Amino acid sequence: MKIIMLGAPGAGKGTQAKMLAEKYGIPHISTGDIFRANIKNGTELGKKAKAYMDQGMLVPDELTVDLVIDRVQKDDCVKGYILDGFPRTIPQAEALTKALSGRGEKIDAAVDVEVPDEAIVTRMSGRRACVKCGATYHIVYNPTKTEGICDACGDALILREDDKPETVQKRLTVYNEQTQPLIDYYKTLGVLVEVDGTKNLNDVFADICAILG
Ligand code: AP5
Repeated sequence: MKIIMLGAPGAGKGTQAKMLAEKYGIPHISTGDIFRANIKNGTELGKKAKAYMDQGMLVPDELTVDLVIDRVQKDDCVKGYILDGFPRTIPQAEALTKALSGRGEKIDAAVDVEVPDEAIVTRMSGRRACVKCGATYHIVYNPTKTEGICDACGDALILREDDKPETVQKRLTVYNEQTQPLIDYYKTLGVLVEVDGTKNLNDVFADICAILG
C-alpha cells in the first residue's frame, strides 16, 4: 500500500500517518521530520532547509525530490509506505509519478485530511513535538502522560519554531498556493480520498481505514 497524506499544515497528517504506518506495518516517511533531524544534526541539508522552514516557506524541489525518490527505493519500502508532507508542489508530484511508473508502480491513495484554516492556528499553538523520534502531541487533544516528555522515547518535547502564529499564517498561504492544486492532480489520477479532519483523531482514523480497507 503506497499512501500520500495531503492537507494543510496542522490538519493532522502526521498523526494519522503514524497510526496508518502501524496498522499496515509500513514506514512513515515525513519530509518535515527528515529536515528537522538534519537541522538537529547540523548537516549541510539541515542548514539550507532551516532558512526556508523558519520563514514558513517550502524547501526548494531540488533539495527534496531526490531525497524522497531515493528513500522509497529502500528495502523497507517493498510492501509500501506512507508519504507525509511530500509531494507538496506539482513538480514534486510529477517527479514521483514518473519515478514510480518507471518501475511499474503507482500511488494507491492520496488521503486529503480537511480542516478549515480557522481551526489550524489553535491546533498548532498546542502542538508539542519530539525531534528525537518524531512523535507529535497536543496539550489538550492528545496530551502526554508526563508534561513535556515524549511518551514514546522519553526525550524533552519542543514547540516547533515554525508553529508561531505569524509563521503558521505564512505556511497556510504557501499551502493554498502551492500544495492545494495537488488535490485536483490526485483526483484526476482517481486515487483521491477526502476525510473530515475536524473530528477527533480516532474518528478520523476510523474514517480513513473504512475507505482504505
Ligand atoms: P511538515 O513537518 O510536513 O509540516 P506541515 O505539513 O506543515 O504539517 P505539520 O507537521 O505542521 O502538521 P500535520 O498535518 O502533520 O499535523 P499533526 O498531525 O502534527 O513540514 C514543515 C516544513 O518543512 C514545511 O513548512 C517546509 O518548509 C518543509 N517541507 C516539508 N516537506 C516539504 C516538501 N515536500 N517540499 C518542500 N518543503 C517541505 O497535528 C497538528 C496538531 O493537531 C498536533 O498537536 C496533533 O496532536 C493535533 N491533532 C491532530 N489531529 C487532531 C484531531 N483530529 N483533533 C484535534 N487535534 C488533532
